[in-house]
Amino acid sequence: MAAARDDLAVPSVELRAMTEDDLPQVAALERESYPFPWSEGIFRDCVRVGYVCRVVEIGFDFVGYGIMSIGAGEAHILNLCVRTPMRGRGIGRTLLRRLLDLAAQAGMDDAFLEVRPSNLAAIRLYQSLGFVPVGVRRGYYQAVGGREDATVLRLPLGELRAAPARP
Ligand SMILES: CC(C)(COP(=O)(O)OP(=O)(O)OC[C@H]1O[C@@H](n2cnc3c(N)ncnc32)[C@H](O)[C@@H]1OP(=O)(O)O)[C@@H](O)C(=O)NCCC(=O)NCCS
Repeated sequence: MAAARDDLAVPSVELRAMTEDDLPQVAALERESYPFPWSEGIFRDCVRVGYVCRVVEIGFDFVGYGIMSIGAGEAHILNLCVRTPMRGRGIGRTLLRRLLDLAAQAGMDDAFLEVRPSNLAAIRLYQSLGFVPVGVRRGYYQAVGGREDATVLRLPLGELRAAPARP
């Protein structure tokens, strides 16, 4: 219903570069959000090697993060996460859209990502932005009692190139 969505509306989502000072809260959210989380050291490596690492803030509140690598014409969305109480308000879509804008402005032709087939919320988000499945990586993820495949999704970035990027 419209009234309910208005209650959930988020006024202004800001992205800024992730720094090493952010890593404890980023890693804490990661642990809350995934059964097999990245370590703080993995995030530190992402920052140090120069991946596109962004923190999402509303006001001064930390609400999520996104990690992307770009190069050789391809962007790879490596991680995307929103704090649980803030989910379902369009923040994940805004975050992903901003990362894709940055990739397009950097001249990348395509964006790729992997997702667990069981992660229906993420799959619906990706499909809503036009990602389509292009393959499967067998046994890519750790899972309870074994391994889980990854679905590989791709989005051509040509249409985003004309639009100005936001930070
Ligand atoms: C995936 C994630 C980033 C989405 O963030 P979010 O802020 O909740 O997403 P949004 O509110 O922008 O929703 C965008 C779309 O995603 C889909 N979606 C989001 N949550 C959903 C849910 N619980 N069930 C089904 N679809 C959902 C919908 O298509 C939604 O569009 P709509 O609101 O117009 O229907 C968030 O759920 C999350 O952090 N999950 C844990 C970490 C994770 O799994 N990351 C992805 C790894 S591949």
